[in-house]
Amino acid sequence: MAHELRDPGQVGIDFPSGRRLRTSADFPSPRIRRVGSGGPTVLALFAVGILLGAVAVGGGFWLAGRSTVVQPPQEGVVSFTLVAFIDGFVGEGGDIAGDPNPTLEVKQGDRVTITVRNGQSIEHDFFIDGYGKHITGLTASGRQGSVTFVASEVGTFAYYCTIPGHRASGMAGTFIVGEAGSAPGPGPAQVPDVLNIARDPTSVPAPLGRTTPSTVHIYLLAREVVAEIEPGTTFNYWTFNASVPGPFFRVLVNDTVVVHFSNHATSSQNHSVDFHAVTGPGGGAVSTQTPAGQTTDFTFKAITPGLYVYHCASPHIPSHIAMGMYGLILVEPDGGLPAVDHEFYVVQGDIYTKWPAGSKGHQVHDDTRLVAENPTYVVFNGKFAALTGADALQANVNETIRIYFGVGGPNLISSFHVIGEMFDRVYSLGDVLSPPAQMVQTILVPPGGAAIVDIALQVPGNYVLVDHALVRAIDKGSVGILTVSGPEDWTIFEP
Ligand code: CU
Ligand code: CU
Repeated sequence: MAHELRDPGQVGIDFPSGRRLRTSADFPSPRIRRVGSGGPTVLALFAVGILLGAVAVGGGFWLAGRSTVVQPPQEGVVSFTLVAFIDGFVGEGGDIAGDPNPTLEVKQGDRVTITVRNGQSIEHDFFIDGYGKHITGLTASGRQGSVTFVASEVGTFAYYCTIPGHRASGMAGTFIVGEAGSAPGPGPAQVPDVLNIARDPTSVPAPLGRTTPSTVHIYLLAREVVAEIEPGTTFNYWTFNASVPGPFFRVLVNDTVVVHFSNHATSSQNHSVDFHAVTGPGGGAVSTQTPAGQTTDFTFKAITPGLYVYHCASPHIPSHIAMGMYGLILVEPDGGLPAVDHEFYVVQGDIYTKWPAGSKGHQVHDDTRLVAENPTYVVFNGKFAALTGADALQANVNETIRIYFGVGGPNLISSFHVIGEMFDRVYSLGDVLSPPAQMVQTILVPPGGAAIVDIALQVPGNYVLVDHALVRAIDKGSVGILTVSGPEDWTIFEP
């Protein structure tokens, strides 16, 4: 008997009809770090700023009325004002008013003045990498300093507070010097082809429940689509089946798997697929180098149980992976895996864009950052904070939860961790034949690798999935939420 393993809801159509269509309004803004006590202070400062601004404007009109010379803003002269707080610099005035750690964009040759005022009573300073500009002496609330310089060198430079720990706690942003005459920032956001690039983490096929090997047909469609990488910011993704990761496939050891690989007619590139579950040249990539509008296929016998990555293997391979072309296939061992209540599908990837995370508009891929292995985004299921809000993982207290976790990469090793819990069982490196490790806090998963973790939560609440290289979680997007519902157990945790 043959099995057709189609992506649920994706049979015979280009786009996944089974997916809920959502807008960015459904998602909480992931980059708001300012919480609690900072708020009133900031509001008060803004109120003061508005008052001062009004006085200045009024004074200006008054002066203008008496003066015969009114200077227009000078071309090539740019000034920014930032207010320093422990959790970030806040823009004041102009386009950056109120923005946390605003991206400061100028053009080569501009004369730039940056003024930084301390917004609180602990010492801060301000430093720009590359340019070496340093504002010091911000020892108390209200103290301020400035630097003025000519932006001679084109590039993207970090600015931050050099006091130990302050950069890590959020006092960091980006200073971009664009080529003279060029647009320094991203162009306007594009109209998305798909409204949510993130694959539903619950889209895991049920356990096979069979013991006899069979012939299984699986289908992949390479699609290049525009979608939001975070609210207000779009990106050109290359995908399997118009989502990141591609579909989760589940076969039984010794199944014969027929792979049908299509490349959509609108693709700009050849695409292909390399399954790490395959024993054979290129894992199938040699057989599936497929031009736009064409279909290829190959057949393999899944002789080795385990959880395996698949990915595009068309040149330049790391670029295809960075754009979103990866997914997982589970080859069940004889007898399957122990039954659990919920199974989830989460895959981490690193994305390389020209502008940092948080920039609004249409992001473009950046080869220089890719080769430097310095991503702007590190994500679960394709986009910044994908598995939060309406896409959070859901379970109840004391239910057993399994996460199939993979890393597409192309470059970064994940230190996968769930904040507030440890993994009860870990099938490390995707190995389902060895006994699982037990009670592990954080696991390493290499690019092109995978692991299976089982957990059960005795205490309700929100548990945060992260890459514990935490800049990636906080600043670059590798966060998800597991919401556990049910009665409190104060013998285990009393808030
Ligand atoms: Cu490709
Ligand atoms: Cu590979």
